[in-house]
Amino acid sequence: MNTTPALRLDDVSQQFGALKAVDQVSFSVVPGARHAVIGPNGAGKSTLFALIAGLRRASGGRVVAFGEDVTALPEHRRVARGVVRTFQHSALFLTHTTRENVLFAVQREAGVSWSMLRPLRSRYALRDRAEELLAEVHLNGREEVLAGSLSHGERRQLEVAVALACRPRLLLLDEPVAGMSAAETARFKALIDALPKETTVMLIEHDLDLVFDLAETVTVLHLGRHLITGTPEEVRSSEQVQSAYLGAADTSDLFTDTTGGSQ
Ligand SMILES: Nc1ncnc2c1ncn2[C@@H]1O[C@H](COP(=O)(O)OP(=O)(O)OP(=O)(O)O)[C@@H](O)[C@H]1O
Ligand SMILES: [Mg+2]
Repeated sequence: MNTTPALRLDDVSQQFGALKAVDQVSFSVVPGARHAVIGPNGAGKSTLFALIAGLRRASGGRVVAFGEDVTALPEHRRVARGVVRTFQHSALFLTHTTRENVLFAVQREAGVSWSMLRPLRSRYALRDRAEELLAEVHLNGREEVLAGSLSHGERRQLEVAVALACRPRLLLLDEPVAGMSAAETARFKALIDALPKETTVMLIEHDLDLVFDLAETVTVLHLGRHLITGTPEEVRSSEQVQSAYLGAADTSDLFTDTTGGSQ
C-alpha cells in the first residue's frame, strides 16, 4: 500500500508585511483524496494554493509533494512532478477553438514526454489525446466553438482539460464553481467525480453543499491558521470551527454565511 501522502505541509507560512496570510499550516492529503479547503474570506486559502503550486515560495516551512520536498522549486518544476493548478481565464486562447486550446496544452506537455514518437504518429496521438480530454470534461460537441464564445461553466471545464493535459497527480482547483448555474455546478461535480481515482484533487470552495458532497477530507483555515483537517462529519461537529465561523451552537446552520462570522 502506498502510504506516502500526495501532499504534506509542515509549518508552511506566508507573510505579507505584518500580515500572516498563512501561519504555520501543517496537514497531509492522502493519495487519491478529494480534499476541500474551506474558510471565511481572507482565511489564506488562495495563498496556500499558491505556495503548494509554486507561484510563491513559502516564507517558512516545507511543501512535500509525493514524498519530495518541492519548497524551493518554481512552478514549472512542480508541474513536471504532477502538481498542477487550474490556470486563470487569461491562460485560455479566446480566439481559438476549444479543441485548439486543448491541443496547444497537449503539445506543450508532449514537448517533454512524447518527443520520441515519430512525427505523423505523434500528431495523431496528440489529437487523440486532445479528443479524450475534451470528452473527459464533457466538451465533446463543442470542439469547434471559440473559447471566447463558451459559457462561463464551459470555460471552467476547458480550464480543467488544459490542466489535465499536464497529467496532474495533484490537481488544485480554486473556487471552480464560482459563478456557475446549478446545472453547471452539477455537471462540474460529475466531472470531478469521474476523474481517475489516483488523481488527488484539492479544491477551495465556498459552496459547502458541494464540499460536503464531494470531499472525503476537509481542511478549515481561519485567519491564516489551520483549524482542523478531518472528515466532513468531524468538521461539521467541531466546536472550534463553529465558533470561528459563527459562534453558533446549531451545526445545521453552519457555513450558511461565510462572510458574517463573529469573533
Ligand atoms: N499579494 C498580496 N499582498 C498582500 N496581501 C495579500 C496578498 N495576497 C493576499 N493577501 C492577503 O492575505 C490574506 C489571505 O488572502 P487569500 O486570498 O489567500 O484568502 P482566501 O482565503 O483565498 O480568501 P477568499 O475566500 O476571499 O478568496 C488576505 O488578508 C489578503 O488580503
Ligand atoms: Mg481565494
